[in-house]
Amino acid sequence: MWILGIDTSCDDTGVGLVKDGEVAVNLVASQVALHQAFGGVVPELASREHLKVIRPLAETALAEAGIGPKDLSLVAATRGPGLIGALLVGYTFAKGLAWALRKPFYAIHHLEAHIAAAWPPGLNPPFLALVASGGHTHLFAVEALGRYRLLGATRDDAAGEAFDKVARLLGLGFPGGPEIERLAQEAREKVPFPVPLKDQKGYEFSFSGLKTKAVQLVEAGHPAPALARGFQEAAVEHLAQVVIRAAQDTGHRVLLVAGGVAANRALQARFQEAGLTVYFPPRGLSQDNGAMVALAAWRRYQGGFPPSPLSLGATAYWPLEEA
Ligand code: KG4
Ligand code: ZN
Repeated sequence: MWILGIDTSCDDTGVGLVKDGEVAVNLVASQVALHQAFGGVVPELASREHLKVIRPLAETALAEAGIGPKDLSLVAATRGPGLIGALLVGYTFAKGLAWALRKPFYAIHHLEAHIAAAWPPGLNPPFLALVASGGHTHLFAVEALGRYRLLGATRDDAAGEAFDKVARLLGLGFPGGPEIERLAQEAREKVPFPVPLKDQKGYEFSFSGLKTKAVQLVEAGHPAPALARGFQEAAVEHLAQVVIRAAQDTGHRVLLVAGGVAANRALQARFQEAGLTVYFPPRGLSQDNGAMVALAAWRRYQGGFPPSPLSLGATAYWPLEEA
């Protein structure tokens, strides 16, 4: 059974194909170069680029799998949250395709897709899921597919956003996460950063203090590698401390770490030693992509969830608890 999944929630056009629950093709057309000159994602430019790329990318994905549109059993797309203009391109394309093929359509929540990317086939809930990306830092208790309880989120910047901002401060490229990780590996020493919200009772995250600290340390003339390493260690330690405490308090022993930041190897190493059973997305599935959307649709289909009506619109704002 073939499922086509599409994600155009932000600045990457993602088209993926999943066959019987396994990723067969996963193509991502990056817009990094397009937005570079502006120092951030320009929503209108993102929408236009999605529009240019979506159809050829979908055709290439089908060709790589050696199938045609009629071989698809299901079509799925990210409905939200994200940039509304960007979302609309992939979402409307997918709905149109499903309608033309007379095949069921699944509207997928972007964070459920990130979680689906890290969710190994045989694992049953309950478990904890940390989604750390450029737009989100959310910790959920996953009671079942479609039953999510938010335990905590960031008060300010998302984890990936902090990596991006500190990278920019250090004169590194975008996205900043991989750049910081590479520079931190080269560092022989580190400038220590304080771990945020150490004494809180809840499960909130905060990254703006680390960013401010980085500004001060750059002005004080500290070398970039030592700064990158100090920042990365504090950011990772903060994520780990909150999640480990939540696991202790709630009795969960299993954790999924998803989203772009989950690709960070220092983070993976820190969570591996946390005394929990931890799962990360396979390579290429942690950042935004279409295959994770198809994986979420596969889980919804397997779970007996009804397809979505084609009258359902995309939405920029959509809490996961309501998905
Ligand atoms: O999930 P994603 O592709 O897009 C959003 O939904 O936001 O996440 C992108 C974010 C960026 O902020 C990027 O810097 C970060 O994930 N990221 C990383 C790494 N790779 C990507 N952060 C830390 N370490 C990495 N290796
Ligand atoms: Zn994402």
